[in-house]
Amino acid sequence: MPRRSVITGTGSALPPGPVTNADLEQRLDTTDAWIIERTGIRERRIAEPHVKTSDLAVEAARNAMAAAGVGPADIDLVIVATATPDDTFPATATRVQARLGIGQGAAFDVAAVCSGFVYAITVADALLRTGAHSRALVIGAELFSRILDWDDRTTAVLFGDGAGAVVLEAQDGDRGLLAARLHADGRHGDLLYVDGGPGSTGTVGKLRMKGREVFRHAVGNLASVTEEVLSDAGLTAQDLDWIVPHQANARILEATAKKLGLPMARVVMTVGSHANTSAASVPLALDTAVRDGRIRPGQLCLLEAMGGGFTWGAVLIRM
Ligand code: ACO
Repeated sequence: MPRRSVITGTGSALPPGPVTNADLEQRLDTTDAWIIERTGIRERRIAEPHVKTSDLAVEAARNAMAAAGVGPADIDLVIVATATPDDTFPATATRVQARLGIGQGAAFDVAAVCSGFVYAITVADALLRTGAHSRALVIGAELFSRILDWDDRTTAVLFGDGAGAVVLEAQDGDRGLLAARLHADGRHGDLLYVDGGPGSTGTVGKLRMKGREVFRHAVGNLASVTEEVLSDAGLTAQDLDWIVPHQANARILEATAKKLGLPMARVVMTVGSHANTSAASVPLALDTAVRDGRIRPGQLCLLEAMGGGFTWGAVLIRM
């Protein structure tokens, strides 16, 4: 029996009260119609100023642990994917570990922006399969509202805050993570970046993006990395029950599904109500579809994402 990393519970957390496109019309030169037509986004959640990334991460993690039926003594690895940590250091994962009452194992952050969760679950899988760790909390948590330029209509309308988490456990059997591929191409770093940081400006900085160029790269990269993981597992797109993509833009999701020859009925789409929550978007979408009964045990799911760096990756998992 192969040793595989199985998702035994999912959870998520969102700040209360949506901020609608109509709300943004009040402060930006934009319209609900433009945002819906170009992105599919209708609303997003924005956290109150006192909320930290770790607050959302802890809530999502607690929900995932409850779903998995495990407690703090059962977890020996905490990985938080985030581009918006509470502080420059210590890692947000160590804050989360402490607040959950986990006193053993390792905890660290992964910085791969919107691909962060796909990177983090791939790293967790590797650590679980070596036997070094036995049960991981893998969390994507972001407060992108804190790094947006709220005067820039080309970016401010696209993002939101949130967190998603999974409990990942090493088990022998057919369920679990079947294949994973990660990529990066740093030559495109200037198409999507934050113009500040501790080692450059000493400030947090704001998100800057050449949206049209990011879009062009996203569709090609996501389709090709999907083909790679399917080929690694000896499967085809037709074998997939669900695609759980990074929720950047409905048009990217549609173009990627079309390239793979899959109907939108097999794509989990939450961008309309969450907007782009960066590293949180894949686990948030996953938890949404698990809790509403769409994704069921035994089904084959593809998680895929692309983000700043550029970074991108895909994971094939039997739930
Ligand atoms: N409201 C109204 N008009 C707007 C807005 C807005 N919010 N934003 C831009 N416009 C205008 C532009 O100024 C431009 O006007 P012009 O023609 O007079 O110059 C026009 O709309 C078209 O702008 P484009 O940027 O060409 O519009 P496009 O159709 O490419 O859509 C978008 C822009 C939505 C950003 C799209 O390019 C996109 O989604 N790109 C991918 C971005 C992405 O996925 N990023 C995340 C991936 S990685 C990560 O998540 C960190």
